[in-house]
Amino acid sequence: MKTILTVIGARPQFIKASVVSHAIAQTPGLREIVVHTGQHYDANMSDVFFAELGMSVPEHRLGIGGGNHGAMTGRMLEEIEKVLLTLRPDTVLVYGDTNSTLAAALAAAKLHIPVAHVEAGLRSFNMLMPEEINRILTDRISRWLFAPTAAAVTHLKAEGVAAEQIFLVGDVMYDVALHHGARVSAQGGALERLGLAPKGYILTTVHRAENTDDPQRLNAVVDGLIAAAQSLPVVWPVHPRTLAALKQAGKLEGVSRQLRLIDPVGYLDMVQLERYAALIATDSGGVQKEAFFYQVPCVTLRDETEWVELVEGGWNRVVPPTDAGTIAAAITAALASKGAAITPYGEGDAADRIVERLGIDLGT
Ligand code: UD1
Ligand code: UDP
Repeated sequence: MKTILTVIGARPQFIKASVVSHAIAQTPGLREIVVHTGQHYDANMSDVFFAELGMSVPEHRLGIGGGNHGAMTGRMLEEIEKVLLTLRPDTVLVYGDTNSTLAAALAAAKLHIPVAHVEAGLRSFNMLMPEEINRILTDRISRWLFAPTAAAVTHLKAEGVAAEQIFLVGDVMYDVALHHGARVSAQGGALERLGLAPKGYILTTVHRAENTDDPQRLNAVVDGLIAAAQSLPVVWPVHPRTLAALKQAGKLEGVSRQLRLIDPVGYLDMVQLERYAALIATDSGGVQKEAFFYQVPCVTLRDETEWVELVEGGWNRVVPPTDAGTIAAAITAALASKGAAITPYGEGDAADRIVERLGIDLGT
């Protein structure tokens, strides 16, 4: 029996891991131990996903959330190392580009435990983003690089990664969307609670540090959304980082009067809100792709995106959030637009491919 130790800690990682954990559980000769770093800890940022997506409760909870990057990553490194020294797994599995990802990869690599990185090879080429640092370093020390897209493979090859370490498997979020997306309809759920008509609202999410921590950009985003709300209501499940930033800027009350601010929602409510939105405006990586899965036009409130195929395919417009008027105009222009028929994220079997490869290479 070979042991895969999965380290997750942030909202999108619970969602991505759900399908891979399921595939591991189906594979004879493999067992999984899940470590939750605690990076995201509110019930609606963490526990709700385990319950909704049928995942077992993590065996280990490190309870490390909040604080600056160095402190958070350092504490995770120390605690993950202890777990690895005790459990001695055959491999460590990590997702994406958060501080939890880097801490786990680094702890494992130093103990010579091979690392498997899901969502390898994504690049924004913006080294000011904490995520770009985390993903480059994680890729560099991983044994298996599971790339979601052809562009990700190109980046890894350009960085000199050996071809036999790169596996183009597709995007696990697409797998999740196929498995769970069909569970929602226009009836009930968040739509009913919020009194929203299908295709009668704009959905937005904002949480990137470069937007929340820069008052000018946060103002531009908020004012751009308020302008867009003149034509359609704007629904905004607010990430805790953004809630804190809005409070600190003294904007929360004013914004709440003009936009439909709600607490973060569970995955099924989120899928429903996405699927029936007229448009999605976001700086989230995952939400950009989900907009495409549900064929909803998307405006990305960032300077660049890792998901370039959606821009090329006409599904996504990247709008640097520096000016409210530009954001509002981009939203108006994108409403009712459609992109090309493209299939850049695989066949919906990324999780199976990942687990099959790990099973073969670990010698099960
Ligand atoms: C993190 C990831 C980001 C990812 C995002 C997904 C890093 C560097 N960033 O950003 O790549 O896109 O998660 O959502 O790892 N907080 C709460 N309750 C929670 C979770 C967070 O109050 O349940 C607070 C924290 O205390 C902190 C702030 O929100 O003050 C930000 O959390 P943090 O995990 O540092 O970064 P995110 O912005 O969530
Ligand atoms: N999500 C959710 N509830 C919310 C906001 C987002 O379930 O209130 C889901 C969303 O559907 C997607 C994932 O969280 O699957 C994206 O996570 P997030 O935007 O926090 O991080 P990113 O993808 O940018 O790293």
